[in-house]
Amino acid sequence: MITAYDFSFARLFDGAGIDVILVGDSASNVMAGHETTLPITLDQMIYHASSVIRGVDRCLVVVDLPFGSYQSNSKEALISTFRIMKETGAHAVKLEGGEEVLESIQRIIAAGVPVMGHLGLTPQSIYKFGTYTVRAKEEAEAEKLKKDARLLEEAGCFAVVLEKIPAKLAEEVTASLTIPTIGIGAGRHCDGQVLVMHDLLGINSEFKPRFLRQYLKLHEEVTTAVKQYIKDVKDQDFPNEQEQY
Ligand code: KIV
Repeated sequence: MITAYDFSFARLFDGAGIDVILVGDSASNVMAGHETTLPITLDQMIYHASSVIRGVDRCLVVVDLPFGSYQSNSKEALISTFRIMKETGAHAVKLEGGEEVLESIQRIIAAGVPVMGHLGLTPQSIYKFGTYTVRAKEEAEAEKLKKDARLLEEAGCFAVVLEKIPAKLAEEVTASLTIPTIGIGAGRHCDGQVLVMHDLLGINSEFKPRFLRQYLKLHEEVTTAVKQYIKDVKDQDFPNEQEQY
């Protein structure tokens, strides 16, 4: 699984053979430049998701329910989900949390919409955690996570993201569930992996957490290309005879 937020990258990722595109609320960070995922709105998520859907022929598209669109009660969660499904054409939604959002998850699934869970470091709760460091290192939090994972499976979630938890815990949770776990900073024993596209492609040179493997250094390539373009225009080398009408 990889995140995407627009038509062009969704088309590339779909063509490359990715199984699942996540229209993550990380759009708040990487597309809009906010420090957290909290500011992004449901309307903005719908804009990103409908752009992604137009670029996809074959893979599953999952859309994050943004902060403030589902936590009040299960009716609000359902209404937000209906908007996403009707206005984007996406196939499933993802929301953060376990027991505390279980009723919402049950109602969304009962309405016929597949739900992906998200446990561990749940960025919408960053001000509760206070830091983006590894979660569930202590026994009490690990036990709650295991219980939440069970509850999500029982409620009918089709998969669960495990973010930034010890690899051993992720391995244990993965072995205990029949639905797939999808890890980010949760080690190699998850059934699948997810990365934010900007991180995987090295668009942002400063973000280098331990769990990240950068497959490209796009910030370098883009900077080099744009510098060359500026030079060519200033030198009156671009456009040349063949590049004009
Ligand atoms: O919003 C997002 O990109 C996510 C992934 C990090 C799992 O939730």
